[in-house]
Amino acid sequence: MNKTAIVTGASRGIGYQTSLALAEKGHNVIASARSKEDLVQLAEHYPDLIRAFPADLTSEEDIEQLTEAVTNTYGSVDILVNNAGALINKSFEKLTKDDWLKMINVNLLTAVDLTRSLLSCFNEHAHIVNISSMGGYQGSDKFPGLSAYSAAKGALSILSECLSVELNDRNIRSNTLCLGAVQTEMLEDAFPGFNAPVSAEEMGTYIADFALAGSKFYNGQVLPVTLGNPE
Ligand SMILES: NC(=O)c1ccc[n+]([C@@H]2O[C@H](COP(=O)([O-])OP(=O)(O)OC[C@H]3O[C@@H](n4cnc5c(N)ncnc54)[C@H](OP(=O)(O)O)[C@@H]3O)[C@@H](O)[C@H]2O)c1
Repeated sequence: MNKTAIVTGASRGIGYQTSLALAEKGHNVIASARSKEDLVQLAEHYPDLIRAFPADLTSEEDIEQLTEAVTNTYGSVDILVNNAGALINKSFEKLTKDDWLKMINVNLLTAVDLTRSLLSCFNEHAHIVNISSMGGYQGSDKFPGLSAYSAAKGALSILSECLSVELNDRNIRSNTLCLGAVQTEMLEDAFPGFNAPVSAEEMGTYIADFALAGSKFYNGQVLPVTLGNPE
């Protein structure tokens, strides 16, 4: 059955590839991020299925407009992939309060605000997939410079657990994928020269498959998606 999915952070990297993979399987995709041109270029691959919706998800006004557009165009939503994110690589000593607020805002509150705004639009059995990081997975190896990013991603993981309980009476499922290294601009900026074992396309395909099928098997789970040992 044809589903309707919202993918945030769709202008490049993992979100871009997740959007393509969902459309390739015949599903409607509302692709959102701030970079309009990149979203328009993405939509050109599947003009009948992908709709570009430029939005800064840290803006409540943009979230309201996105929700309104989704309601007016599709009526309801089956899948929300909260993928938008950003990373600051700086020692704990040098991280400023502004850095912390930015990490929490982009990596946690964008998902909180968009999910809350869409509550009345979710179909029964809708699936909310939060994209976290191995840095935000309890007990995983930690790396210097990533305290603000990892703490925000850890909070996003716990949010999924909480939502799975709160939205249980509507059969809405919520899960978190904690990704290991994926070859994207974010990784290249943060760790120049590092070669990830997984491409954005491979991870996008996996996330699309999980968003479509995972809600039958998982709810409130925080799942490591990595080749390395999470402990
Ligand atoms: N790559 C990795 O190794 C890795 C590992 C673990 C987890 N992750 C997570 O996977 C997700 C995707 O990462 P990526 O590597 O594909 O990163 P990326 O290439 O930097 O893409 C990040 C996406 O988030 C969007 N975004 C950032 N701030 C936004 C805002 N305020 N409003 C709306 N959209 C915003 C960006 O679009 P605009 O700039 O156009 O707004 C972009 O589309 C992130 O949540 C990241 O933390 C990545």
